[in-house]
Amino acid sequence: MDKLVVAGGTSLQGRVAISGAKNASLAILCAAVMATELVTLENVPDIRDVQVMVEIIRSLGAQIHRTPGGSLRILMTGPPEEMPPYHLAKQLRASNLLLGPLVARFGRAEIPLPGGCNIGLRPMDLHFKGLIALGAQLSLERGTVIARATRLEGNRVYLDFPSVGATENIMMAACLARGQTVIENAAREPEVVDLANFLNCLGARVRGAGTDVIKIEGVDSLGGCLRYAVIPDRIEAGTFMVAAAATRGDVVLENVIPRHLEPLIAKLREAGVEVEEEEDRVRVRATGPLNPIDIKTMPYPGFPTDMQSQMMALLSTVPGTSVIVENIFENRFKVADELKRMGARIKVEGRLAVVEGVERLQGACVRATDLRAGAALVVAGLMAEGETHIGNTIYIDRGYFNLERKLKMLGARVWRTPLESDELVGKESAKKSASF
Ligand code: EPZ
Repeated sequence: MDKLVVAGGTSLQGRVAISGAKNASLAILCAAVMATELVTLENVPDIRDVQVMVEIIRSLGAQIHRTPGGSLRILMTGPPEEMPPYHLAKQLRASNLLLGPLVARFGRAEIPLPGGCNIGLRPMDLHFKGLIALGAQLSLERGTVIARATRLEGNRVYLDFPSVGATENIMMAACLARGQTVIENAAREPEVVDLANFLNCLGARVRGAGTDVIKIEGVDSLGGCLRYAVIPDRIEAGTFMVAAAATRGDVVLENVIPRHLEPLIAKLREAGVEVEEEEDRVRVRATGPLNPIDIKTMPYPGFPTDMQSQMMALLSTVPGTSVIVENIFENRFKVADELKRMGARIKVEGRLAVVEGVERLQGACVRATDLRAGAALVVAGLMAEGETHIGNTIYIDRGYFNLERKLKMLGARVWRTPLESDELVGKESAKKSASF
């Protein structure tokens, strides 16, 4: 157990290379269990969530390992020897994305039902609605979701909400169903498109990903994929963009897809941040005072909920009143309490947060309550006067590869240090609750 220490006051300057997308990697790794031949993936970040997913897939009996060059190789030749153990699956709710692939290829899937987490209840009703529409029999036995099917049958599925995970689970399962499946009101996130492209690399027939109607023509089996490179992580990129703006710096982000960043770029420009877009990089500069803005999180291509906490940190020192509405998750303002410990003035009412900009934040001892809240506290620490000590770094390590090293290369004063003994007292309870 350690903590991240951030000494505020330096503006970020220089270049940073963005890693592969966590959320695309997790879905694509689940899809890889449907491949009957070797799959080689590039640009998969070696972050904690990926490490856990690799362990889960290995527990299914797959051969999976990283090559010395950093590629991930996966080969799943036959049905699972056993289902994912609870202690692994409960660490990573994305393990629920194995339901569709396993029941589609092997006729059976058993996945521990992921509980709620710090940002919301995270139900799976839309996942279940879709899989049942494709003919799977689902049951809940001792906290485990069991899906059974002899052969899935294509069908039309309407998603009451454009859920990313439900879209991905149903799309994967439909690849091996008999006949056509149409998913209506589908999620349009870039990670859904990346998954569809990977599935088509395996020989699937997916059309329309990125729009709200996805059509899948089922095939009998899927082959392998000699090389598939995962898209860059738009949320890691967004986090560095906000950190550059928050520290009034000048940073070039490399290995990005600017189109995926449009919602964030639009809001940063509205706040007075200069953003230059090039083919695979963006440059972010903020020199003068910034303007307060209003943000509403929405499904893609709306403003991403995964950037909401980081923007709250930035806006906490922008003079004036900014209003944030969180429309995706019911409990994603927890970071406000930690930011207020640093002197921020934020009033939360349900899904609404009103941020009154203050002159400067003060460094303090704070703790991450989820992955993006942790990132927001790093942004706040970079702006604050003095040192900020951030606990529960396990959350940050789930989604950010080499965060300190990348920040140090940009001039940040950030380091990791073991917790003092008196700080360990509360950590065991936090560790027990640290899963979603
Ligand atoms: C994915 O989660 C991402 N995770 C999340 O990123 C991201 O915040 C979220 O999409 C929204 O963009 C991965 O891809 C691994 P949803 P997911 O299903 O699929 C409700 C991060 O920080 N809902 O689109 O779980 C749900 O409660 C993580 O990287 C249902 O009601 O998100 C939520 O309110 C956090 N029933 C809303 O939809 C369902 O069956 C959006 O959830 C499914 C979802």
